[in-house]
Amino acid sequence: MRDAAPTTIYLQDYKPFGWIIDDVHLTFRLHPTATRVISRIRFRPDYDVTDRPFFLHGEDLKHISAKVDGHDIELRHVDGGIEADVPHAPFNWEAEVEINPEANTALEGLYRSNSMYCTQCEAEGFRKITWYPDRPDVMAQFTVRIESTAEHTPVMLSNGNGLFYQQDQTQPGAPNVSIYQDPWPKPAYLFALVAGDLVAHEDRFATMSGKDVSLAIWVRPGDEHKCAFGMEALKKSMKWDEDVYGREYDLDEFNIVAVDDFNMGAMENKGLNIFNSSCVLASPETSTDGNFERIEAIIAHEYFHNWTGNRITCRDWFQLCLKEGLTVYRDQQFTADMRSAPVARISNVLALRARQFPEDQGPLSHPVRPESFQEINNFYTATVYEKGAEVIGMLKTLVGDANYSKALDLYFERHDGDAATIEDWLQVFEDATGRDLGQFKRWYSQSGTPKVTVSEAWSEDGTLTLTFRQETAPTPGQEQKEPQVIPVNVGLLNPNGDEVMETRTLELTEAEQSFSFSGHSARPVPSILRGFSAPVILEQNMDNARRAFLLAHDTDPFNRWEAGRMLSRDALMSAIIDGAAINSDYLDGLKAVLRDDTLDPAYRALMLGQPTQSELAGLLHQAGHTPDPSRIHTASEAMRDAKATALADLLPTLYHDNQVSGTFSPEAEPAGKRALANAALALISRGDGGTLAAEQYDQADNMTQQLAALSCLLDAGTGAQQLAAFENQWSQDRLVMDKWFSLQIIHANPEDVVETTRRLTHHMDFDWKNPNRFRAVMGALQMHHAGFHHEGGDAYELLADWLIRLDPVNPQTTARMCTAFQTWRRYDAPRQEMISAQLDRIAAQEGLSGDASEMISRIRG
Ligand code: PHE
Ligand code: ZN
Repeated sequence: MRDAAPTTIYLQDYKPFGWIIDDVHLTFRLHPTATRVISRIRFRPDYDVTDRPFFLHGEDLKHISAKVDGHDIELRHVDGGIEADVPHAPFNWEAEVEINPEANTALEGLYRSNSMYCTQCEAEGFRKITWYPDRPDVMAQFTVRIESTAEHTPVMLSNGNGLFYQQDQTQPGAPNVSIYQDPWPKPAYLFALVAGDLVAHEDRFATMSGKDVSLAIWVRPGDEHKCAFGMEALKKSMKWDEDVYGREYDLDEFNIVAVDDFNMGAMENKGLNIFNSSCVLASPETSTDGNFERIEAIIAHEYFHNWTGNRITCRDWFQLCLKEGLTVYRDQQFTADMRSAPVARISNVLALRARQFPEDQGPLSHPVRPESFQEINNFYTATVYEKGAEVIGMLKTLVGDANYSKALDLYFERHDGDAATIEDWLQVFEDATGRDLGQFKRWYSQSGTPKVTVSEAWSEDGTLTLTFRQETAPTPGQEQKEPQVIPVNVGLLNPNGDEVMETRTLELTEAEQSFSFSGHSARPVPSILRGFSAPVILEQNMDNARRAFLLAHDTDPFNRWEAGRMLSRDALMSAIIDGAAINSDYLDGLKAVLRDDTLDPAYRALMLGQPTQSELAGLLHQAGHTPDPSRIHTASEAMRDAKATALADLLPTLYHDNQVSGTFSPEAEPAGKRALANAALALISRGDGGTLAAEQYDQADNMTQQLAALSCLLDAGTGAQQLAAFENQWSQDRLVMDKWFSLQIIHANPEDVVETTRRLTHHMDFDWKNPNRFRAVMGALQMHHAGFHHEGGDAYELLADWLIRLDPVNPQTTARMCTAFQTWRRYDAPRQEMISAQLDRIAAQEGLSGDASEMISRIRG
């Protein structure tokens, strides 16, 4: 457990390390509870920086010895590491420490997962492996020797290229040895080591300059059949980065390892990516279309980090968005190219609104580049990642595609090998385009979601004027907001629905600004913020008829979808606030769109969706109402009923016309058909008691169909038998069992959610130390809006109990899950009091981790 006194670190206090490392040699003598790590490091002074003691990070290390130039040296143990008196000249450092992988349940540093060894070093895990300047601006070449005598670890991997491997089973006690060398200087957070009994799915890739790269996905024996899809995704990513960004891979081998115990999705360690098994293993029987799509995106994301993150890394952790925002942006571009661009864009915006908007509009709001933190692990957020990606999208919209390419080329040319900053990033755009990005930079420093209000004026001389006002509400630590540069993509349609002005980009730079469009014979209808060209809330006073017109005619697929979304949102809001019936404008418009066979099924499936209950709660709160979770739930169900009734004639056709036969393919086209058919099935099941779903369940030969059917049955309250059969069928497959756990909570009635969750925590497979399983249950609990906020507050208490239990074991995952409470101020006084009592209870735990205590205190505000 950590000491309680939290220290806050500030961007403005950045200072370089003071020494330069030429190379690092590490030897690992693996042992489950007593691994020895020997480090040999060549340091030389950075003669520009001479005013500080020689400090190396280190945490939970059992110190054995330290030598400088062959002589024992005294270490002074200070907070978070050691100091030593070293020569003011180049010297050789040699140290030995002992660590205990088996005891490492925090999954940071070197740990064990199913008796395999693996590491996680981002952000500050390397300091749990050996004494080292564990900061991203210290880059060095690593050579790693791994020895194992204690156990059978036939596979031993590290970063870079394998130089040597020896497995001697003829002599008892002879070690396995493997040696890896990484020619590319890297920060310690990109270090990785894996050892265990693993099997490989192998392939090769020929790069653009003809280099041959060996590719491997390493998994536990028994998972070999779940690697093929990931491998294809990897090869597509490698090709795409060459084609689109001109970036070639730079080592002889590229390895991916799947581990079952992992706090995050995946990690881009140089040449040795480590993945949460849920983000790489896939098969038609066990993975849904959604899983396949996500896996493809994450493999791409981690691969793309090789250039945006590894070759060019971050000077310090405040610059995290430099690698994450850009790499998310790149993986989103990749998905748009591999699949349908409009569907990808809508999905990204849905995720942004679901995860980033609540963060940016609540107590955890922080800039894309934060200026202070206590625990950097708490800043791997939707704001840094997803809003960080939106900022890059805006930059591209503002400078244009050609200039974007020019700037990126310059970025790679100028900063290859650097630990760079956001200033460096913006400078290449300024230099490549001659544009001043001073105001644009506010996107990195100002937190909160800007609200853009637009009004229209028409004058009979044929001029339409749009007036925009932008405003951002105060956020923690930022009372005053300055106007930002907001690119607003606008097109105009004439009353017949023909486009009379193609999309153009308006640049808002002031608090209030007008733009006129003249020469129109009839008043055109503007389509504003096409493609969601900026991560803002658009306030536009528009009646249902106008929205229905855009739903029928907008040529921009995002805004067309958005028109339907706004109609359903408004209908839900009036149902919640005034008990109004669902209006027919929306249902009629929806019907027309769904009937249109020229539209992509995946797109039509998105059209059938509706705002989530949590999103509605946020909107109500913004509009000055106190959200009542039970009313929101009732209205959401009523909306589904209204759709089921209004579309009753059409649903069976949608269902049957979109059945896919033959061998399962996870590609976008068949997946889109399944999405539409299953969306139809969900509505059909509201009326037929689950008959059709039961049929689908029986016939399903893939997880997409099986899980969709089971969901409908659970909603209909008739799935008990299938649920048991599902458990029986999949009890040996952890990833599928995660779904089994989640599903029951997600589809429980609000009043049964706590009971269901509690029952599942007593299930013998509720292995709560496994982050995936913990999230499958506790994540589902908090995602069930009406269940989590059910009166009485039992769910708050249950979640807090489990967070308290997990914290000493795994602070990082605990801290992340505290975000369930970030929206607490939206709700009524009794709920606020109940949540606040739970927050107090968590905060009062003795030895609470720094991770969790930072989160709780920020959420409390
Ligand atoms: N850098 C990883 C990614 O985005 C995320 C991660 C952060 C993983 C911290 C583990 C620990 O791609
Ligand atoms: Zn990343």
